[in-house]
Amino acid sequence: MRKKAILITGAAGEIGQALIEQLSASGEYILLTLDLHPLPEALDGRSVHMIGDILDQKLFARLVTEYELDTIFHLAALLSTRSEFSPELAHQVNVNGTLNLMQLAAAQSQQRGKPVRFIFPSSIAVYGMPDLKTKARDFYVREWDWNYPTTMYGCNKLYCEQLGSYYSHNYQQLAETTPTMLDFRSIRFPGLISAFTVPSGGTSDYGPEMLHAAAQGVPYSCFVRQDSTIPFMAMPDAITSLLQLWETPRSELSRTVYNVTSFSLSAAEFKAEVEKRFPQAEVSFDPDLQRQGIVDSWPAGLNDKQARRDWGWQPAYDVARAFDDYLVPNIQERYR
Ligand code: SER
Repeated sequence: MRKKAILITGAAGEIGQALIEQLSASGEYILLTLDLHPLPEALDGRSVHMIGDILDQKLFARLVTEYELDTIFHLAALLSTRSEFSPELAHQVNVNGTLNLMQLAAAQSQQRGKPVRFIFPSSIAVYGMPDLKTKARDFYVREWDWNYPTTMYGCNKLYCEQLGSYYSHNYQQLAETTPTMLDFRSIRFPGLISAFTVPSGGTSDYGPEMLHAAAQGVPYSCFVRQDSTIPFMAMPDAITSLLQLWETPRSELSRTVYNVTSFSLSAAEFKAEVEKRFPQAEVSFDPDLQRQGIVDSWPAGLNDKQARRDWGWQPAYDVARAFDDYLVPNIQERYR
């Protein structure tokens, strides 16, 4: 008999590491993890780790001979800044890679007569605010507002949300027998901040970079203007939201895509929070026009009422708790 397992792609990334930590704690699940890179030593023994590419269909074919995939957390992606340097590569990874995994999940759902749950992190990058005036006016955007991404990454995420919805509701709609479709669920995250990892290739990176630099006593030059405002969230809340959405019975979900958020800060406010905890921090502002343009197109906040209503979402970490209880103590420990 094949062993029931959970597959996590992009496992060595920021969300992946935190998710493995949490999911492996109970010892309840077999975790299969996939990434181009090895996992950090601290995660040794927590999963069956494979070094590989999500574009490699042969790898998946081998995998399903041994395992029955119950859930896929598909986290692998090129982030927004990185994607602007190699848009076609980003499309390959972010769209074709996701399509590969959806095909795999669709086949698995069919084979076992039970939907595979497919959990997909999306992003504030799917929004495209036309100008700063509108961004200030429509502060908390709803899921269906301003879906006009300006980046390749944002386009990829928005399209893959739609693909997921297609594979969940309309896949092979003209076939004689309706297939068992996969169960796709997606969360649009704000900028995530982890105490244990530093992001790379994203555009919301200035927040975590500022904080990690201050903790190391290194000066930091912020690549956006002081008034630039976007929503943020501490990593433990991001993991909680993924797990909550994963566990909620399908019948209670009125959508396939949900916003979640915690707090919104301008870059100047972010700096002030950092300085409260690290008074010696040296933060200056030297906006990069292109990356500034991306941040200006992202909303200042997210309206997450749908997630609160459907699956009881509520962040545990507001700004003060995020910095005082999670970020600062763990970051200090890390750089000690
Ligand atoms: N944090 C991501 C980025 O900056 C957005 O989802 O690309």
